[in-house]
Amino acid sequence: MQWWRDAVFYRVYVPSFTDSDGDGLGDLPGIRNRLGYLELLGVDALCLSPICPSPMADHGYDVTDPRDVDRRWGSLPAFDALLTDAHAHGLRLVVDLVPRHTSEGHNWFRAALASAPGSSERARYHFRPGRGDGGAAPPNDWPSVFGGPAWTREPVSDDADGDDGRREWYLHLFSSAQPDLDWTHGEVRADLETTLRFWLERGVDGVRIDVAHGLCPPADLPDLAGDPRLDQDAVHDVHRTIRAILDGYTGRMAVGGVAVAAPERLARYVRPDELHLAVDVVLAHAPFDADGVRKVIEGCLTAVGAVGAPATWMLADHDVVRPVSRHGGGPAGLARARAMALVQLALPGAAFLYNGDELGLPDGAVPVEARRDLVWTHPEDSRDGSRVPLPWDDTLPGLGFTAGSSWLPIPDAYAALCAATQLEDTDSTLSLYRQALELRRTHAGFRGGKPEWFDGPSGCFAFRRAGTSLVCVLNASSAPVPLPAGDILLVSGPLEYGLLPPDTAAWLS
Ligand code: BGC
Repeated sequence: MQWWRDAVFYRVYVPSFTDSDGDGLGDLPGIRNRLGYLELLGVDALCLSPICPSPMADHGYDVTDPRDVDRRWGSLPAFDALLTDAHAHGLRLVVDLVPRHTSEGHNWFRAALASAPGSSERARYHFRPGRGDGGAAPPNDWPSVFGGPAWTREPVSDDADGDDGRREWYLHLFSSAQPDLDWTHGEVRADLETTLRFWLERGVDGVRIDVAHGLCPPADLPDLAGDPRLDQDAVHDVHRTIRAILDGYTGRMAVGGVAVAAPERLARYVRPDELHLAVDVVLAHAPFDADGVRKVIEGCLTAVGAVGAPATWMLADHDVVRPVSRHGGGPAGLARARAMALVQLALPGAAFLYNGDELGLPDGAVPVEARRDLVWTHPEDSRDGSRVPLPWDDTLPGLGFTAGSSWLPIPDAYAALCAATQLEDTDSTLSLYRQALELRRTHAGFRGGKPEWFDGPSGCFAFRRAGTSLVCVLNASSAPVPLPAGDILLVSGPLEYGLLPPDTAAWLS
């Protein structure tokens, strides 16, 4: 049973979902308390942000032990209880694994720093001598994804004899607190297998592989010419190994976070013996423009279709600005985000929702002094805005997120967007998502084939799911447009005199 092929996954950003113990941070028992909400929402699976022990330099994407639960979130028994209850609510559960780097606090990395250049302890990472005078320049010219060089020189050791030139550099495509592992090392690969089996034996339905395109840079770490850092052929062998392990269990899946240059490159990750799904950020970066969105959709469907894999659609996650804000904020931003949700959920394949998008949350403005995303060195902003905790109930302290002091400030404007209020309001964004997810489950049109596009007014698109009567229309133009023939199933905003207004989408049958 390939349940993931058209599943709706709900990404839970664990620190920001629900706090059960008043420490201001979300946790596993908090998620457990909300399973009824998620069942009511109508998603198929939860995908948790990383829960393993971590010093939180990158909020869990820097792991010290991939086979335990950080005490901030709970414990292994708390995880098991969540998994059991999720299954009882008909929800599947996926955990996020971060295999490409460890935390600088991982025992392997500490042992590496404590050992001499050339030692076996260093061989699990990419340590290299520097270039230039005294090795003072990084070994190559690679930048980190977070800004600055992708290399950090090892600190001066306590027993330094004054020979600075022996100090090596280590590679980190993300922050210096996230040293990159060397995937040609047998122990690195064996450790991932142990980790996969650990979570699969506990009963998880799937795993997310973080930065799945970024495991295997060329061994000689050449200077930039193109971008040798990511999406190298050797990585596919790792994914074949992952797939072989998953195939030993029933009904389990792996989804990769894959950010590559073109849909054809993405499709290579979901070939029949590799990952089941790959999620890219292209749709989450696409402007609100009918032609542009259609181009992304068609490119992706053609590419993954060629390898027999389903597409995976994502409009947002904890790394990008929330759709409401990205599309301009205010009523227009919300209208566009709602319209795009109907487009996303009408497409064939799997969908990833990001927690809070079902409430129509904009990004929370986080003042510089309250920022927590400290590894993100790009000047324009941190990623904190989309990580602000969710508002549940405006009659409770901390809007029902926490009885304590929230780890990121929750803006006053979130009080009007609480889940409890939206559940009672049939026009709310939450109600729109609930209706859309219900239709997606029950209407035969959503089991139809690829979109068949038909011509419409400029700035709009419409497609029919092949072999069915289900039609999705998007009006991204600035004028109201007539709807095609058919019964309206759902509209993302009110019609104007029977016309589909700008910034609105509709489903018809
Ligand atoms: C995660 C980011 C993280 C990065 C490095 C990405 O896939 O979504 O939040 O900073 O990986 O681990």
